[in-house]
Parts: sequence; structure tokens; C-alpha cells
Amino acid sequence: MKQIKIAPSMLSADFAKFGEEVALTTASGADLLHLDVMDGSFVKNISFGPKFIKEARPYSKAVFDAHLMIVNPWNYIERFAEAGADIITVHYEACKDRLKDTLKAIKSLGVKCGAVINPDTDVSAIKDVIEECDMLLLMSVFPGFGGQKFIPEVLPKIEEAARLIESTEKNIDLEIDGGITLENVKAVKDAGANVIVAGSTVFKEKDRAAIIRALREV
Ligand code: DX5
Ligand code: ZN
Repeated sequence: MKQIKIAPSMLSADFAKFGEEVALTTASGADLLHLDVMDGSFVKNISFGPKFIKEARPYSKAVFDAHLMIVNPWNYIERFAEAGADIITVHYEACKDRLKDTLKAIKSLGVKCGAVINPDTDVSAIKDVIEECDMLLLMSVFPGFGGQKFIPEVLPKIEEAARLIESTEKNIDLEIDGGITLENVKAVKDAGANVIVAGSTVFKEKDRAAIIRALREV
């Protein structure tokens, strides 16, 4: 069994005191900090860019997991790498036939890389790039906003992605993002996900350490 890692989505944090939020979430036991970058074009929401991440970087030694929901991500990967991202994930839907080259470009910057697919994209879409990936990210909501409801049809896709990863015999993380709660986290782990993103579930609780622990242990 792979180690379970919890990745609070900082999209649900208080942006007015982002540094403190990053520090507190790290001290509360987060393994990764999931950083949702949205451009108002690939998704219908705008969040933050590299400057925001760069200025948050000194507040935490946790893994900075930048989830790019932007068009033409290859134009920005260098800036996110410079800003201090430890892993950069890009969408198949934004890259299409440039996905493999984009993943390689991320790695050439000395940063880990991953491919992301939306709930309505088949796992087969990223079959050819799996060997390049340090992580695969499956969306369990349509990207754009925190606080949406988990789409249960994604569960068999997690199993399929886990089998695909196993077939490589490489140590590739399988991350799940969107609508994760204490009620459904066991199902996603049982299906094979080991990196658990949770935004609203973590940030609606006063005791962040307790909810992170609970998500890990359920
Ligand atoms: C959605 C983002 C998610 C989101 C998760 O576009 O990629 O990371 O913030 O938030 P919750 O856990 O509230 O669904
Ligand atoms: Zn995300």
C-alpha cells in the first residue's frame, strides 16, 4: 500500500492572510499544499498566479503542488517552477497532443510533473504519457470551484488509473481532487488514490490538524 498523503486545497483559505494560512495548514500536518491556478479561460474562475505562490513559499516546507487550470500552460511552467512549485500538474484537456512535451519541459526545470484529466475524460487519454509522470491527478468534480459535489462515477476510473500505474512498476502517485469528504474518502482510497485533495472539508473545520488526521486515518 502506498503512503496516504493529504493535500489541502488552499483555494478555500483566506487569501487576505495567505502566508499565515499556508504556515498553519503545514503545521496542522498537510503533506502537500494544493495550489489551484485558474485563468478565467480554461475554467470559469480566476484564482492566483506565480507571484502569489512565490510569496507564500517561505511560509512552508511542505510540497507545493501547483494544479494549473490554464490554457497554454507551457508558457507559464518556468514561472511556476521559479516561484517554488515542487510539482506542476497540467490538464490533458489544455495540452492535448502537447501533453508529453509539456511534462518533459516541467521535468527539465527540475520540478516533478503530473497529468490531470477531467471527470469526462477517459484514463486512456493519458496512457501514453504515464511513464513521464510523477503523479496522475483525477478530477472528481469539473474544475473551477471548490465546494462542489463528488462525482461517484469517477471511482472506477481511479481503479483503472491505479492498474495503469501498477503496470509501469514506477512509484507514481495517484491524486484525487474535488468534493472529498470524511464520508467518501475511504472509497477513493480503496479504489487506489493515495494523494487526497480536500478544500472545503479542511477549511470549514476549526481544528485543521484533527480534520487532516481524520482524512488520513479513515
Ligand atoms: C477545483 C479545484 C479543487 C478544489 C477542491 O477546480 O481543482 O482543488 O479547490 O475543493 P473541494 O475539496 O472543496 O472540492
Ligand atoms: Zn485542484
